Amino acid sequence: MRRTVIVSNRVASITEGSSKGGAGGLAVAILETLRESKGLWFGWSGNVREAPLDTPKHSAPTQANPFETVTVDLTPAEHSGYYNGYANRILWPVLHYRSDLMEYHSEHFRTYQRVNANFVSQLVPLLKEDDLIWLHDYHLMMAPRDLRQAGVKNRIGFFLHTPFPSADVFATLPNHRELVSSLCHCDLIGFQSPTDLRSFEDYITHEAGGQVHANEEFEAFGRQFRAQVFPISIDPDGFASAAEESERSDVANRLRESLDGRSLMVGVDRLDYSKGLPERFLSFEHLLDRYPENRQRVTFLQIAPYSRIDVPEYKLIRSRLEGLSGRINGRFAEVDWTPLRYINRGLARRTLAGVLRHSRVALVTPLRDGMNLVAKEYVAAQDPEDPGVLVLSRFAGAAHELKEALIVNPLDYENTGEAVQRALSMSLEERKERWSALMDTIRQQDITAWRRSFIAALEAT
Ligand code: ADP
Ligand code: F6P
Repeated sequence: MRRTVIVSNRVASITEGSSKGGAGGLAVAILETLRESKGLWFGWSGNVREAPLDTPKHSAPTQANPFETVTVDLTPAEHSGYYNGYANRILWPVLHYRSDLMEYHSEHFRTYQRVNANFVSQLVPLLKEDDLIWLHDYHLMMAPRDLRQAGVKNRIGFFLHTPFPSADVFATLPNHRELVSSLCHCDLIGFQSPTDLRSFEDYITHEAGGQVHANEEFEAFGRQFRAQVFPISIDPDGFASAAEESERSDVANRLRESLDGRSLMVGVDRLDYSKGLPERFLSFEHLLDRYPENRQRVTFLQIAPYSRIDVPEYKLIRSRLEGLSGRINGRFAEVDWTPLRYINRGLARRTLAGVLRHSRVALVTPLRDGMNLVAKEYVAAQDPEDPGVLVLSRFAGAAHELKEALIVNPLDYENTGEAVQRALSMSLEERKERWSALMDTIRQQDITAWRRSFIAALEAT
């Protein structure tokens, strides 16, 4: 079997049963992937140092992490220009249809290019002739060109975890041509959903003057490559067992006792403006306003660990949420009932699985999301005999697959509130029907299928 070399901005590891490296779909999915396939994972260590180590840090495989990791540090200037500046203040908003939030500085693009080139120059000496190179996400869009310029002939795949926006929106990015022409040095580019692939095809034909042939074969910027959809997923049965076990844990008992028979609604997201959290809080307020019978009977738990804390737009959304949660609790709380529990910490994965299982309704309502793994985790965590209901944004990649969820437009917060009301009063029979259809879909396209289909398609190029 050939070795897979995974390259991503963040490298995570498993410590004592929980993952270290921050809440985020990419880390969770790659950990699941490498657990099965072994290989090497290269990326940023998470450390920012004035004088980074001259050579990357190698960690040998262990029982908990059966893969080798090689990590590099960033300097404060690189962290600020490449990660905060270009990746998170320029690329992230554009990829999530928020060009209005882009803070463009050409200097950040130069730093982004430098860090991509630096990753590549430290990676190249580690490569073996028949390694498959699999690059992940928007932090590394210049790396394919750098790899080819360094003479690397291996097969290179790239998977974009975020949406690829419509061509017009992507073209608001001053460096859009450089980025896409670099991506074209890959053999295979993977997207989360058919919408993303369509937008990319549109970009290639209308902006880049390239061609899209049958069998997802592309020609642009003098290169030939393939682009396909590979919806990312989870290990549903593993997550289901964790949820079942966690039901008997101390945290689950505390949660159950504290609810005192009330129904629980849950949301779990990094604190990010793409996740639609203010609109979600407003939909909860609407629910309590419009359907007062839910007062005292329903509790909404929103878990939202801080993310990208140096980026001003993240500070703004944070203070908006603090204001809204204070307002909602101020309006509706009783001496013995807090309607909205708002927590800004990550939970251990197992604990999270138990919390999801205990929730009658999950609100997964991003304004835009590549996939959204929480939607799939919620379904997998449910008790088949008494499953809860998923309320899902039509703008999450997951909505292409999870059609039996209650699908909403998160910008219409009143309508989301109505969907929650419907979910809270749904019959057991309908809940079971919807849940089993959703679970079948997730089992058919699980994390193993995602990895295998991507690797097989890359090998076939
Ligand atoms: P993104 O990649 O944008 O963060 P996803 O929903 O695809 O969004 O992935 C988030 C992942 O991080 C999920 O696997 C989820 O369980 C995990 N996660 C998110 N918030 C928390 C939290 N508070 N505690 C533990 N894990 C979390
Ligand atoms: O695709 C979503 C993503 O950007 C992943 O790349 C990343 O793992 C996650 O969000 C968390 O973001 P960050 O690495 O900036 O904390």
